Amino acid sequence: MIGARTPEPGVPIRIGLLGCGTVGQAVVRTLIDGAVTIERASGHRLEVGPVLVRDPGRERPGIDPSLLTDDPARVLDDPSVAIVVEVMGGVEPTLGYLRAALARGASVVTANKQLMSRHGPELLRAAEEAGSELRFEASACAAIPVIKVLRESLLAAEIGAVTGIVNGTTNFILTEMGRGGASYAEALARAQELGYAEADPTEDVGGADAAAKMAILASIAFHSRVLIDDVPYEGIDHLEAEDLVHAEGLGFVIKLVGVARLLHGSVSVRVYPALVPRGHRLAAIGGADNAVLLESRATQEIMLVGPGAGGDATASAVLADILSILGTHQGSFLHNALADAGRPIAPPGSVPSAFYLRTSVADRPGVLARVARIFADEDLSILSVVQSGSGDEASLVLVLHKGLEESMRRAVTRIRALDDVRGEPVMLRVLGSGEGGD
Ligand SMILES: NC(=O)c1ccc[n+]([C@@H]2O[C@H](COP(=O)([O-])OP(=O)(O)OC[C@H]3O[C@@H](n4cnc5c(N)ncnc54)[C@H](OP(=O)(O)O)[C@@H]3O)[C@@H](O)[C@H]2O)c1
Repeated sequence: MIGARTPEPGVPIRIGLLGCGTVGQAVVRTLIDGAVTIERASGHRLEVGPVLVRDPGRERPGIDPSLLTDDPARVLDDPSVAIVVEVMGGVEPTLGYLRAALARGASVVTANKQLMSRHGPELLRAAEEAGSELRFEASACAAIPVIKVLRESLLAAEIGAVTGIVNGTTNFILTEMGRGGASYAEALARAQELGYAEADPTEDVGGADAAAKMAILASIAFHSRVLIDDVPYEGIDHLEAEDLVHAEGLGFVIKLVGVARLLHGSVSVRVYPALVPRGHRLAAIGGADNAVLLESRATQEIMLVGPGAGGDATASAVLADILSILGTHQGSFLHNALADAGRPIAPPGSVPSAFYLRTSVADRPGVLARVARIFADEDLSILSVVQSGSGDEASLVLVLHKGLEESMRRAVTRIRALDDVRGEPVMLRVLGSGEGGD
């Protein structure tokens, strides 16, 4: 079995697949089209199948129907299947399938962020115990080889921060909203029309998808156990075009960012829409692209940019993992290894950053003074104030210097309770103000 023993050159390697949808079909195509190059590079001919699906009767372009099965045992229990590629998604029954594959000594490649961000440490332990390999490059940012760069190229670089735009759907929506003043609903509809957003976009626009990817990236970057439950996240569905216009006027763009950093020895990982200074490297990332900025004292800033989704893009990462498995010996320093440096998770309230706050107020004498008093009480200082409109629905936009998250949250709760304040205030963080960017 691979991992337990490096296969002799020339031995054909059988790849079984769990799933044959958008990514699975692209993986099969890539394996068939790239067969000669793969054999030349790895010394092994790869054989494809069996392939688990729910409905083997449905035609899939370019896929030999005789490879398809709805019986998981045909992939999981077949000793000739040396590598199991999991591209079916979901946590159940996938978790059980991967446990079974690893337990019998097969190596596993998965593109499943939900699974890895919940059960990654457990599955990596199972792989170690079985002497097999578990690889998951495609689970975070699809084609961008960020996990390989963190695990191999930057292993000794002591990464201090990973800041990313790791969800293409939200980046597309925010780019649209910023470009033409489209409302959130209009931009989402356009993203759905172009295939950048699912019919049910909740995971993307609510921030959960980005949180899963950031948990995975932070685990690798900081050699720590970070699960999705350790990552507080916010989405973009409460933003209005007005916020992007205000941000623009203040010299920022708004992006949904994942920010993972070491904070006095603890790990802080969060996802939220942030004001990004126009000169910041992440500000230029538009449309559905993903980008990850890796910072360390030794290497300063390294940014990786590329497509974060799509069948072919994701298949490219899956293939890279297969090749890594073929080239890796058990016991080498790259064998699985989610080394646990024992770093605790930082309490979210203790994380400092600068803030933007927009609130609707009745334009009456003393409103601003009352708001300013609350900030002063909470030890937060105001950098700039812009008031627009008048009457009962004036808009007050404030940018605050760096302060603690818990102080800001208390201030927002008190401001919301003021008689002059209408509706829900919008609070955003400013990147490069103690969070990731500096
Ligand atoms: N699409 C992307 O751009 C992208 C990017 C990065 C990562 N990923 C990840 O890659 C994975 C696959 O995504 P996808 O877009 O390819 O999904 P998809 O198009 O929905 O394909 C899922 C495949 O898995 C099969 N399947 C699902 N549940 C099954 C079950 N319980 N038993 C047997 N077969 C089952 C489906 O069978 P049927 O064909 O019979 O329905 C289908 O072939 C997910 O973890 C996703 O998060 C996707």
